[in-house]
Amino acid sequence: MTSTEKFITSIPKAELHVHIEGTLEPELLFKLAERNQIMLKYQSVEELRKAYNFHNLQSFLDIYYEGAGVLQTEADFYDLTWAYLEKARSQNVLHTEIFFDPQSHTSRGINFGTVVNGIKKALDEGRQKLDISSNLILCFLRHLSEEEAFKTLKQTIPYKDSIIGVGLDSSEKGHPPSKFKNVFEEAKKEGFLTVAHAGEEGPAEYVWEVLNLLDVSRIDHGNNSLTDEKLVTELVTRKIPLTVCPLSNLKLKVVTQMKDHPIKKMLEKGLIATVNSDDPAYFGGYVNENFLAVAQSLQLTKKDIYQLAKNSFDASFISSAEKQNFLYKLRKFEA
Ligand code: HPA
Ligand code: ZN
Repeated sequence: MTSTEKFITSIPKAELHVHIEGTLEPELLFKLAERNQIMLKYQSVEELRKAYNFHNLQSFLDIYYEGAGVLQTEADFYDLTWAYLEKARSQNVLHTEIFFDPQSHTSRGINFGTVVNGIKKALDEGRQKLDISSNLILCFLRHLSEEEAFKTLKQTIPYKDSIIGVGLDSSEKGHPPSKFKNVFEEAKKEGFLTVAHAGEEGPAEYVWEVLNLLDVSRIDHGNNSLTDEKLVTELVTRKIPLTVCPLSNLKLKVVTQMKDHPIKKMLEKGLIATVNSDDPAYFGGYVNENFLAVAQSLQLTKKDIYQLAKNSFDASFISSAEKQNFLYKLRKFEA
């Protein structure tokens, strides 16, 4: 292991952009299919992995929603979340903020409570047994209507204490953030924090919209912000963090090669960029593999890596007391 690899592996970090359904490894997918007596199109784990060959966001989403179909019971959501927490903790992720897509489950007849209770049970246990802290963020599917999002928000109310915020994911092109202005306003009134995917495949204009119309605290991806200097200045001035996902960007062809990844440029411009795995079971790596990929391709220094790790705690939704505790642990890694 090189000294950079060692540094990446051991530095404490937070993960702020991971879809729990995207942590479903093929082995667990097959196990759950068998447990729930679901017939799969694929004969083996190898055959399934071969299908993970994406050319854009939509080609990934089609397979991702199909995979999520094996999740049926509270135990399934628990097992899924537990496997992710163990993996994340083994990579020195001390805090994680997890997205889930309730509409991809309720649309199949699964109860909202089944999903949340299974995830929550694992998060509570993770806090006690793994010493990993966590928050849960619900995402509205943007290819569906705002009315559907309102219905989902209503279902959330009894579980308010377990969910810190709402976000927006799924197919970006053709589904501008403005479509969800009212439901985000309502979510804020209910006390939820807000984030949104923007500028992954969509234009800088969508990033302006999530800032001005959805009033988000963070932007998920945000790559295309760099095409608009005024927007970059706005993000820097308002200290709006970006949750960047390098291996996802490579696999979904948001960048053609890792050498072209904008994360170093983001740091140079003073943006609060963070490194995240998005859908690690589909994109070939958890958070440390994402750090390694950009460190190698962009010759990141230990100072850059430290900055990215520090940003991850600064950009998180933890209390300032908890933040101080994590930053204290980080201090000995300061380059
Ligand atoms: N973008 C949009 N929607 C998603 C993603 C993503 O990267 N991952 C899971 N849902
Ligand atoms: Zn995402």
